[in-house]
Amino acid sequence: MALFKKKKPGRHKEAGFGENTGTHYRKVLENLFKLRAPEWYLEIGSRDGRSLSLCPCNYIAIDIEFKVEHDTFNSAQQMMFFQQSSDDFFASGFLSRNDITPDLAFVDGLHHFEFALRDFMNCERNMKPGGLVCLHDVSPYNAAMTTRDTDYTNVLKRPWTGDVWKVIAALLDYRPDLDINILNAEATGLGCIENLDPSNNTLFERYDEIVKKYIDVDLAELGPETYFGRFSLTDAEAYLARQAG
Ligand SMILES: C[S@@+](CC[C@H](N)C(=O)[O-])C[C@H]1O[C@@H](n2cnc3c(N)ncnc32)[C@H](O)[C@@H]1O
Repeated sequence: MALFKKKKPGRHKEAGFGENTGTHYRKVLENLFKLRAPEWYLEIGSRDGRSLSLCPCNYIAIDIEFKVEHDTFNSAQQMMFFQQSSDDFFASGFLSRNDITPDLAFVDGLHHFEFALRDFMNCERNMKPGGLVCLHDVSPYNAAMTTRDTDYTNVLKRPWTGDVWKVIAALLDYRPDLDINILNAEATGLGCIENLDPSNNTLFERYDEIVKKYIDVDLAELGPETYFGRFSLTDAEAYLARQAG
């Protein structure tokens, strides 16, 4: 008889990677809704509506393929679903045409660096002053989850952060003006980015250079400490307490 349960492959924490022992990311989101009372929430990547169902205010939900299973209907006046890629959504100019400036955004769409980077850039450009962009999956806890897997049905079966961590690396390089907290939120971290500046063009002007710099970097080869050594993980509860104060 086996004395120990065999761990499922790809689910264990590796040395040097993220220690995400803090409050679960959805609980953090739920608290941010309470603490910041946003007027408009923008979510990129909603899938079954689980994170979206926490939203109590007006929202814009974008997903290339919705599979809504949770109750996403709230008591606000405007709830909008856009079943298209986030790039197409922003290119449509819907937000500026309708004078919508979200004050809270959650980026959880395609987990490829260049997509998540564009998602951040497009969010920042459209946010209200004092807004907050949350970026999921920026503290991977092992190498296996950081692959640039292209088979989406495959990655849904296991924890997968893709290489979204590179967005944080790029922001630390190119946008020292941003206020970035990487929360130790369970299970794969949550980047909370403030001091947004919709008029800052740096990421748009240097986009090709940034993508070239990072696209082929592998976190395991680089050494996780090279990335994780650039910041201290912020305790999720401590961050929420600061937001409350
Ligand atoms: C990890 S799931 C979102 C989970 C959800 N935010 C939650 O926490 O409950 C990622 C979603 O991103 C969507 N997606 C993938 N590529 C996309 C793209 N280019 N634009 C918008 N959504 C995309 C997928 O269809 C999938 O539903």
